[in-house]
Amino acid sequence: MRVDILTLFPEMCRAPLNESMMKRAQGSGALELHIHNLRDWATDKHRMADDAPFGGGQGMVMKPEPVFAAVESLRGTASTVLLMTPQGRRLSQQLATEFSTREHLIIICGHYEGIDHRVVEHLVEAEISIGDYVLTNGAIAAVVVVDAVVRLLPGVLGHEQSAADESFSAGLLEGPQYTRPAEFRGWKIPDVLLSGNHAEIAAWRKERALERTQRNRPDLL
Ligand code: ADE
Repeated sequence: MRVDILTLFPEMCRAPLNESMMKRAQGSGALELHIHNLRDWATDKHRMADDAPFGGGQGMVMKPEPVFAAVESLRGTASTVLLMTPQGRRLSQQLATEFSTREHLIIICGHYEGIDHRVVEHLVEAEISIGDYVLTNGAIAAVVVVDAVVRLLPGVLGHEQSAADESFSAGLLEGPQYTRPAEFRGWKIPDVLLSGNHAEIAAWRKERALERTQRNRPDLL
């Protein structure tokens, strides 16, 4: 999969996508990542990417010209153009799975008080939010989308099974996990995990998953 991120803050995206699994995905060729500075497409002498809002109001609005120029120079016939904004549709595991089937994502990061609405009307397929809170700009949100999507690509996760079993894919939150030592500060791990009885362990895990979902995310049940 190819991903192009368009942002005013490329360094905010670069470091987190150059570690661990995302680094390996690029090494193996599963991910071809390009992070661009939108200012590179600004044509005026100050390379301005934002301007005051028509109709008055606080803050600055991202100008349409650099965004259109960037997307038009990068997109092909199989490109999906997304805009990161708190006004977007909320990212979910289901949406990440859908995006993981696309060949090419172009992700525009919104900033300041917003972006000229002609970008939304005439350039993007979907506006995406990572949750009901406001970040200073969309760069970190774009990183979240890339991470959630790329780990679903074939061969990126070590164990193919783990993407299928985990929280949200199975409709429940994942149950608790323990590792050595079996006793820490007097707290022992549940006996069933030492029993070697795989059926009993699976039943216990299912029960704990239900309990955890009930407590933390009753809306999922
Ligand atoms: N930009 C600022 N806040 C955001 C959010 N919650 N999701 C996506 N982009 C954003």
